[in-house]
Amino acid sequence: MYKIPANTLFIGKQLIYVPECQSTNDLASQLGMQPSTLEGAVVVTDHQTSGKGQRGNVWIAESGKNLTFTIILKPHFLIAHQQFQLNIAIALGISDFLMDTIDSQVSIKWPNDILIDGKKVCGVLIENQLRGETISHSIVGIGLNVNQVDFQFENATSLGILINKIFALPTLLEDLLHKMEIRYLQLRSGHRDLMINEYLNRLYWRDEKHVFSSEQVEFSGTIRGIDNTGRLIIETQTGNRFFSMKEVTYVR
Ligand code: BTN
Repeated sequence: MYKIPANTLFIGKQLIYVPECQSTNDLASQLGMQPSTLEGAVVVTDHQTSGKGQRGNVWIAESGKNLTFTIILKPHFLIAHQQFQLNIAIALGISDFLMDTIDSQVSIKWPNDILIDGKKVCGVLIENQLRGETISHSIVGIGLNVNQVDFQFENATSLGILINKIFALPTLLEDLLHKMEIRYLQLRSGHRDLMINEYLNRLYWRDEKHVFSSEQVEFSGTIRGIDNTGRLIIETQTGNRFFSMKEVTYVR
């Protein structure tokens, strides 16, 4: 049912569909080691038995109702400390796609959750394999909630809930891969400052005062942006604080 996208240059030209697997990220990671695996190869499944989320969480998605896939990229043009730039390109590509699909407010919750009207519609798990100072492979896993309508968490949503229709997964995948390729090529051709600005413009809770938590201590502050390595900058009464992934949670 999934088909090789007609509108991309290299993403999805190698398309590996499996009805079920543990995790498309794990499968892609094994395939990425093989010389026959090309940059842009996509692994897609209907059902993951052990889907992985950020921070060691599990990613649960109803079988056959959502997009669960992984893209294998080889961003040799990025050095290790620039790896967050790939997160930016991926988050922009997904949010571009959603903005074209749905007439609601799409935002990016740092580092790269995609929210619509404040609820999570898509999660991204990027696992980079480094060789020395460069990135040899990036395993870019994406879970997009599409036709599922019941969720365990009240802050989750899906395209089906928002638009009240059933989407054809293969067509969505094709369009999404196209948008992601455009942003990846933009990153590769060096338009990084422009992309960071667009990312900041879509950043959830930016310039608003909210409560966060770090090491089990709540504090209030205002997100002001990200630094060169992708750390979140939160302005507090005592000055700016910088957080790496997993070091801060959004409270209210
Ligand atoms: C998150 O928001 O916690 C990240 C979720 C990432 C889920 C996707 S589904 C496809 C790919 N394979 C996995 O095991 N995880 C990612």
